[in-house]
Amino acid sequence: VREAVADIDEEVLRLNRVVTDVLDFAKPLRFDLAPTDVNEVCGVSAAAATAERADPAIGLALDPALPAIVTDGERLRAALVNLLANARHAIDARRAQATAPPPDTVGPPVELTTAAAPDGGVLIVVRDHGIGIEAADLPRVFEPYFTTRRAGTGLGLAITRNIIEGLGGTIAIASQRGVGTEIRIELPGRAAGSEDRPS
Ligand SMILES: Nc1ncnc2c1ncn2[C@@H]1O[C@H](COP(=O)(O)OP(=O)(O)OP(=O)(O)O)[C@@H](O)[C@H]1O
Ligand SMILES: [Mg+2]
Repeated sequence: VREAVADIDEEVLRLNRVVTDVLDFAKPLRFDLAPTDVNEVCGVSAAAATAERADPAIGLALDPALPAIVTDGERLRAALVNLLANARHAIDARRAQATAPPPDTVGPPVELTTAAAPDGGVLIVVRDHGIGIEAADLPRVFEPYFTTRRAGTGLGLAITRNIIEGLGGTIAIASQRGVGTEIRIELPGRAAGSEDRPS
């Protein structure tokens, strides 16, 4: 009985997450803008992504000279958690296939990097040495409901793109099957509309 209850519990959590994702995707996003330490958001996101299990590990390479930007830290955290979850799934998938990472691979399987960008903005990179994406799938990964995972909803990247673009930023993906994936996010120093808000 205890085992069955644990299964039910887990399934309720999963369904709750699916419903939250679908609602998040369906409704227009509202942003709460404030001066934000993006390095801190990265640290919190990595901790959240690894809370249930530490492996695959996420390495942080955070630029100590990163400027604070006016953005929505809570939305940004949600976006990064989605990307880090995808990266960790890609590592799991590679391990399940027992394919070795590229021979020149160094460092942690997943890495989250920040750097100052021109015009007071920031660059955030999520890189993994996971299974990578088939060339034919790559143009579709941001489409809502596109998934190759049995337990996937296919909303993670669609929601992430909504958030980043809603914050006035850009998101780009590069991936090679068997090599890994890199997501580059650029965020402006001030999200659109932030100058209209009283301080
Ligand atoms: N880092 C990655 N490495 C390999 N494939 C990836 C990566 N990120 C995304 N993908 C591919 O893009 C698809 C869509 O990703 P997305 O996050 O939108 O949905 P999902 O992870 O399948 O489900 P969920 O809604 O739970 O996030 C994935 O199913 C996977 O095929
Ligand atoms: Mg996902």
